[in-house]
Amino acid sequence: MKPKILAQGAEAIITQDQDKVIKLRTEKSYRLPELDQKIRRQRTKSESKLLTKAAEIIPVPKILKTNNTNSIEMQHIPGLRLSEHLDTLENKNKIAKTIGTQIAKLHNADIIHGDLTTSNMILSEDHQERIDNNQTTSSTSRASSDIHSASEARSEITEPKAREISPQKLFFIDFGLAFIHKHAEHKAVDLHLIKQALEAKHTIYSEELFAALLKAYTKEANNAEEILKRLEQVEKRGRYKQAY
Ligand SMILES: Nc1ncnc2c1ncn2[C@@H]1O[C@H](COP(=O)(O)OP(=O)(O)O)[C@@H](O)[C@H]1O
Ligand SMILES: [Mg+2]
Repeated sequence: MKPKILAQGAEAIITQDQDKVIKLRTEKSYRLPELDQKIRRQRTKSESKLLTKAAEIIPVPKILKTNNTNSIEMQHIPGLRLSEHLDTLENKNKIAKTIGTQIAKLHNADIIHGDLTTSNMILSEDHQERIDNNQTTSSTSRASSDIHSASEARSEITEPKAREISPQKLFFIDFGLAFIHKHAEHKAVDLHLIKQALEAKHTIYSEELFAALLKAYTKEANNAEEILKRLEQVEKRGRYKQAY
């Protein structure tokens, strides 16, 4: 299979070569060449550093290789890009909760994503397959099982249910604008960005989705109270800017 271009953004070309994705930051002719090289090197290094850090906390693509200059090779995540599928998924509120929990986990490690949109999230296909397989396996095993005791019978009944409610594996990608900071202001801006992204792309569901996201975030995040207070201020500033 020939490598194929997945996306060509303002900054980089993203190519898929079988189970690998290569993100290549291309030359920008409007920048002075020396400065351009410096910026591309700095962003490539920063993205790979933050991807590595985030990998310890939430699902993100694993880095396979980087030249620390302009390219990062990472694991390809087969699945659904959330921007295109969220509206049609039955469990969208649960996914919104997962988004909230995962943002909180990043923030607890002082990782600010910087570009939280549903285009930068992939619901992994692997996991969906696993759920289907489990359901098939469990119904077969139930049919052929010989149950010896009441406790075994109980576990036979509860097990498949537990799998049904297991959270979807949601990958966050694109750490190109990410940075480390402990201040609540940056965390509030991150939340404001995902709120705006939901309003823009998933308009009819955005209110309930953001409510579910924020509830889960509040449960998980350290210092949630201060961050939410900041969020209110960020939003007031936003409204002020729009009105004038
Ligand atoms: N590891 C990956 N696995 C699968 N698809 C990816 C992966 N990385 C990027 N993509 C796809 O390429 C698109 C652009 O990549 P991204 O890192 O978001 O670059 P940009 O900075 O240009 O937005 C993503 O929205 C996604 O569709
Ligand atoms: Mg992106």
